[in-house]
Amino acid sequence: MRKILMIFGTRPEAIKMAPLYWEFKKYQEDFDVKVCVTAQHRQMLDQVLNFFNIKPDYDLNLMRNNQSLFNITSDSIVELEKVYDDFNPHIVLVQGDTTTSFTSALSAYYKKIKVAHIEAGLRSGNKYSPFPEEINRVLVGHIADYHFAPTEKAKQNLYNEGIRENVWVVGNTVIDALFLGLRILEENEELRSKIELYFNGIFEFQREKIILVTGHRRESFGEGFENICNALKEIAESYPELKIIYPVHLNPNVREPVNRILNGIKNIFLLEPLEYPYLIWLMSKSFLILTDSGGIQEEAPSLGKPVLVMREVTERVEGIEAGTASLVGIKKENIVKAVQSLIENTSEYHKMARAINPYGDGLSSKRIVEIIRSI
Ligand code: UD1
Ligand code: UDP
Repeated sequence: MRKILMIFGTRPEAIKMAPLYWEFKKYQEDFDVKVCVTAQHRQMLDQVLNFFNIKPDYDLNLMRNNQSLFNITSDSIVELEKVYDDFNPHIVLVQGDTTTSFTSALSAYYKKIKVAHIEAGLRSGNKYSPFPEEINRVLVGHIADYHFAPTEKAKQNLYNEGIRENVWVVGNTVIDALFLGLRILEENEELRSKIELYFNGIFEFQREKIILVTGHRRESFGEGFENICNALKEIAESYPELKIIYPVHLNPNVREPVNRILNGIKNIFLLEPLEYPYLIWLMSKSFLILTDSGGIQEEAPSLGKPVLVMREVTERVEGIEAGTASLVGIKKENIVKAVQSLIENTSEYHKMARAINPYGDGLSSKRIVEIIRSI
């Protein structure tokens, strides 16, 4: 019986680990699987744990208000040692590029525990964007023993850095989570009605055009967020019939400019972070999505929704190459122009609004568990 420890800390890691957790649970005779949350996020993590019905075995409860990279890095390393000593896992599973993934991999290495990296090999090529995630992911890649790359391109990135063994292309588990979420929405009429009722007060989803907005990247704090908010303000004023729905990330560096610049504009709706089924329902009803989120860039193409990526570079290039996503940067005029052109040019809109699945087919967790069983 192998002991597997899944470690995660933030909303997107939890979403992407959830289907994998339940896949491992199907093989109780092979694996003793435990979950450790650093709780780098608290409320936003708990929303996901709750929806996917995951009860952590270890909860480090680390989040502090407006925490720094230094706090979260040092606190998690110190606390994780105790968890490893208690459980003695054979393999630690980490996901993505957060500080939690980096410190979990590093501290597992200090204990000579094998590390499996889910969503390995994405690269923007710019060490300050996404910051600090680009370097976190590179470092985890060089620490890890097993690499689960979502796409061929990610595998190639690893190959180029000399990581050539134990690399498998399995798709991204975010699509497993998305398909699972969509299935629940389809089957659970009560939940669907609750969600429709909630949004009914905001927009008429049969008729009105909405733009979904999310944003939280550290490299955009300050001037970048001011630009993004001023762009949204101008778009809202130019198109009063349009509704902009923005579930605002809990990071105070995001909330301050967003609330200051956008509060009180009548066709902009600033919401608290949405529970996952609410968010995917809203994505499916959106006209287009403006975001800097990694996960949303991956989910939106499966739903046929155009994504304007408010970043200067992205490590998710597959959507851009397929033409369903476009990098618009964080300058006000460029964001406004890109939105205008999708609203006013129908053929351009339809070129982008195509359902494709460059990031996965919903079977990534199955593949990962099969491979780990065979190792
Ligand atoms: C983190 C990850 C980022 C990921 C993002 C997903 C790092 C360095 N950053 O960024 O890669 O894309 O999560 O959302 O690992 N907060 C709350 N409640 C919550 C969550 C956050 O109040 O549930 C506030 C707290 O004040 C916290 C702050 O947000 O200190 C920042 O959280 P942190 O995890 O450090 O950074 P994110 O910007 O969320
Ligand atoms: N998400 C959510 N509620 C929200 C905003 C996002 O459930 O209000 C989901 C989204 O569907 C995606 C993930 O959270 O799966 C993305 O998280 P985030 O943008 O915080 O982080 P990133 O993916 O950029 O690391």
